[in-house]
Amino acid sequence: MKPANKTWLILIFVSTIVTLSNGYLNLYLNLPEVQKLLGLEAELYYVRDGEINQYALNFVVPVPSKIDSLQFTWENVVGYPLPYSIDVSANSAALYPPQLNISATGNVPTSTQTFSISLPCTGLSAAEVNIVIKINISVTYENVTTLVLRRRKICTKLESVSGTQVLVDTMPSYSNSTNIFYFAVGTALVMILILALFIILFYVKNKKERRTVENNNRPTSSYLASMPRNTVNSTYNESFRSMPSYSLLDERSKDLQERIAELTVQRCRVRLSSVVMEGTFGRVYLGSYTTEDGKEETVIIKTVTDHASQVQISLLLQEGMSMYSLNNKNILSILRVSIEDHTAPFLLFPYKNTKNLKTFLQKCKLSPEGVSHTLTTQEVVDMSLQVIHGLQYLHKKHLLHKDLAARNCVVDDKLRVQIADNALSRDLFPSDYHCLGDNENRPVKWLAIESLLHKTFSTNSDIWSFGVLLWELTTLAQQPYIEIDPFEMAAYLKDGYRLAQPINCPDELFAVMAYCWAMSADERPTLVQLQVCLQEFYTQLTRYV
Ligand SMILES: *[C@@H]1O[C@H](CO)[C@@H](O)[C@H](O)[C@H]1NC(C)=O
Ligand SMILES: *[C@@H]1O[C@H](CO)[C@@H](O)[C@H](O)[C@H]1NC(C)=O
Ligand SMILES: *[C@@H]1O[C@H](CO)[C@@H](O)[C@H](O)[C@H]1NC(C)=O
Repeated sequence: MKPANKTWLILIFVSTIVTLSNGYLNLYLNLPEVQKLLGLEAELYYVRDGEINQYALNFVVPVPSKIDSLQFTWENVVGYPLPYSIDVSANSAALYPPQLNISATGNVPTSTQTFSISLPCTGLSAAEVNIVIKINISVTYENVTTLVLRRRKICTKLESVSGTQVLVDTMPSYSNSTNIFYFAVGTALVMILILALFIILFYVKNKKERRTVENNNRPTSSYLASMPRNTVNSTYNESFRSMPSYSLLDERSKDLQERIAELTVQRCRVRLSSVVMEGTFGRVYLGSYTTEDGKEETVIIKTVTDHASQVQISLLLQEGMSMYSLNNKNILSILRVSIEDHTAPFLLFPYKNTKNLKTFLQKCKLSPEGVSHTLTTQEVVDMSLQVIHGLQYLHKKHLLHKDLAARNCVVDDKLRVQIADNALSRDLFPSDYHCLGDNENRPVKWLAIESLLHKTFSTNSDIWSFGVLLWELTTLAQQPYIEIDPFEMAAYLKDGYRLAQPINCPDELFAVMAYCWAMSADERPTLVQLQVCLQEFYTQLTRYV
């Protein structure tokens, strides 16, 4: 079996509910069938009372090699005959031609009937066989509705070894790094399959409040799954305890004074020109500073007004210095500090026509046809790869960001992205931070579940936030979980809800995000996996341009 480059079988589709005109029909997988295929106790409706569930139809159900037949249940629930024709096709010599135990044409029975499609593998070769089941239902004389169901059957090769027949499993052996990556992608896909399933089941459960969801009016949150492993809660504290926990502040604050001394520049060499951003006490200026050899450099200056408290000033210094002495093209490292008695400190950052990423994205949205262009998928993927690059560098330096978000990145005219510190962000983007009863103002909607619940941070919690950042890139910086009360966030996430797939967000990208929001921290992808994955997607995009 060729591993997974083609298995981007992504499953979370636009919810379109189409109604068969007067075609009151039920078509579903009954309890034993769902149990057998998916290990879940539920019925899965493709059509219920004539309403077609596109979520479910679009879902390519994987069929393990040991399952040799599929069962479908249907019933005509309207008073007159519904003629059907059915056709099953498979594209591989690894499978015998599928056999139906009902005739290829006829009338949908008026009582519940289960029919089966046999799918035995030939054992001659190993393959993933795509099976397409097309059912035409003639609602009226000339009005025919076609339902298309898809399955992916895994066939293995039978080989005889020393006289006995053994099944050679077609799973790749994960012996080298490429395979490990594919395994990771595979795992992600399995997870997404499960997520999609829960969406379907949720849909089925909520079928009673039937409503038509328009394509462009998607709910902003979708029901994703709490993983079937419900033991997560009890085990993940442990896994965290064993993880090294580096802190940006704790480890490095001891020599904050030294660092400030090292970067310090006299106030007379700094000139403020214009305010770029302003909060209640924080200010960001564009300005310049004169270097030792007399050259003028344009800089961004972060500072506070006279109203700022001592606490706010020391937080500005601590957070502003967190990117001290880092040298990477995707990290915005502090350049200089200017501290003069009785005035607020100035923090100087290099400026190369850079803007705050969040404000940049919001401006893209405001002028869809105007001067600033909207982002293409390719640009979004490229930008996210740059963030990954920066984050890799940080993690290599044993630094956690803990507040990765669009507001804490900058971008230039050529869409070069740099990760910045979060100094002043609470003040400049107040709606992105919330206090949950304590005095701590936290980026609640960007935090991984464990950071929210237990204030634990790890490289994996940065990955979660990266997922939210990717979501921001694809939504042009919408507010995540806008309708959710910050106090409800933990419960909401624990219940398995996550951000929904943004409109126009390719399935590949959404798969990456969803993977970053795995409940259990160690099920989230590593930066290397994300990089390989997004790089591959990027290459695919450029290939077809
Ligand atoms: C078929 O059904 C659809 C949906 O109700 C309806 O809009 C369309 O006019 C019908 N077409 C014909 C040819 O009857
Ligand atoms: C279903 O109908 C379409 C056209 O309406 C036709 O091309 C197709 O062959 C039909 N399929 C079956 C299984 O009869
Ligand atoms: C088709 O086969 C399935 C399983 O073998 C059986 O349950 C079902 O009754 C059969 N249906 C018909 C119409 O023979």
